[in-house]
Amino acid sequence: MSWPIGPRPPLRRFHQARWDEPIIFELSQPGARGVLPPPVEPGIRERVGDPAAALPAGVRRTSPPALPELSQVHVLRHYDRLSQENLGADLNIDVGQGTCTMKYSPKVNDQLVRSPKVAELHPAQDDSTVQGVLEIIWRLEQLLREISGMDRFTLQPGAGSAAIYANVLMIRAWHAARGEADRRDEVITTIFSHPSNAACARTAGYRVITLQPDRNGDPDLDALKAAVSERTAALLITNPEDTGIFNPRIEEFVRVVHEAGGLASYDQANANGILGITRARDAGFDLCHFNLHKTFSTPHGSGGPAAGASGVTSELARFLPRPTVEFDGTRYYLDHDRPDSIGKIRPWVGVTPNLVRAYAWIMSLGAEGLREVAEVAALNNNYLMHKVLEIRGASAPFAPGRRRIEQVRYSWAGLAEETGIHTEQIGARAADFGVHYWESHHPFIVPEPFTLEPTESYSKADLDEYAAILAEVAREAREEPDVVRTAPHASTIHQVEHDVLDDPARWAVTWRAYRRKVRGEAVEGPRDAVEGPR
Ligand SMILES: Cc1ncc(COP(=O)(O)O)c(C=O)c1O
Repeated sequence: MSWPIGPRPPLRRFHQARWDEPIIFELSQPGARGVLPPPVEPGIRERVGDPAAALPAGVRRTSPPALPELSQVHVLRHYDRLSQENLGADLNIDVGQGTCTMKYSPKVNDQLVRSPKVAELHPAQDDSTVQGVLEIIWRLEQLLREISGMDRFTLQPGAGSAAIYANVLMIRAWHAARGEADRRDEVITTIFSHPSNAACARTAGYRVITLQPDRNGDPDLDALKAAVSERTAALLITNPEDTGIFNPRIEEFVRVVHEAGGLASYDQANANGILGITRARDAGFDLCHFNLHKTFSTPHGSGGPAAGASGVTSELARFLPRPTVEFDGTRYYLDHDRPDSIGKIRPWVGVTPNLVRAYAWIMSLGAEGLREVAEVAALNNNYLMHKVLEIRGASAPFAPGRRRIEQVRYSWAGLAEETGIHTEQIGARAADFGVHYWESHHPFIVPEPFTLEPTESYSKADLDEYAAILAEVAREAREEPDVVRTAPHASTIHQVEHDVLDDPARWAVTWRAYRRKVRGEAVEGPRDAVEGPR
């Protein structure tokens, strides 16, 4: 590829570092150390005894853990090199993770949570020694109550799907308290609600009924009316759906489910386009959840550490996971004494650093700022949609001509038909320009899909650049298809072989499994549960 010489190329030149970096276990040097623990003081063993003796025999190690042995500088180099082989959120115009929302995570909030006041807390500390953090968590709950209209929140779930699962368990507990849990064994959702809704309901043992869109791209209200019955436990619904289309009849959906005796749970994981504009409770919902890592700017980091927040009405509050964070007018405390609680969804009170970050983010914006986030996110999205739909071969299926809220599920079906180039090849080629997208998840009823979500974080220039890259790749698909077909060319890793991921005999997610399966070594010791067959 040749670029014009000038101060700024029309499309940015990009080339990822290539370090041929082994995995950290392969760098291990027996005896190398990053930190030397201080020698045990003479006599201390006699005074405190053997600390391991306090552990039950069944959980004591029989051999030291097989950890890599490296000096500090080798660890530093290793991770710095890996970071250079990455296309992370701080490096690119990260609008290609639609439904997974990559917005800017302000660095000042990271600074806050790196303070020893947060970073060095132990989750089992006595309440009296963590008053500040409990106050932040309590205050965050008050803010989320105001944002959603709900009466109580738990901040315990470690992800959006964990929050949905908590909601499903609370729904069952509510029906059980009325003697109806066995009869109400069905959950209704929609095909473009995030798939974790159907997955959580199914995991909890419910039969799942999935509604399809009507001619306007909205979930079909008549289908809902036909689906509800005395077996309906709940409706789990995302709005705007993963297409970015807002269901204007959402209150009617809630009413129909209530009339059948079911509950309604609003998946507001991604509230980027509706913050300060609509509220779950105002639409009649009984439960809702937010992903703090999507809407409230806390980082995602490869699927974690996430933080989900589940909100409920006062009628459902007794079922919340325990402990809840309470304030009695003078002190904050954890309330474990909640006999109707569904129990725990994850340890302690939640992913505390992310709760602190989310609190700081909300406080720095204020009510008007939150509304502005939604307005700018929707404006950015509709601007980008306008630019993308100018590219021949791109389309936004369902609801033609209608605006979207915060994201759009697009299709390259037209381009694929004309050129034989598929969406994942376009995503891979875009990486050669320093941006990319993933090809979206279930349901695969949109052909050649990609979902873009610009959020409030990206400037007009960013969006112009992103759209120009897609336009250039679409041009290449027509005029130089082999360049696209064989992409990426400028990344550390070339094309990823996806088939391996479906073949447990070939994937290896632990060091032991890697040695057995990839290096063909005879490895002593137990096989991991995740290791899969030999
Ligand atoms: C609308 C919606 N609901 C639920 C989830 C699930 O959240 P998590 O990935 O944290 O489990 C997502 C995440 O992408 C989402 O976009």
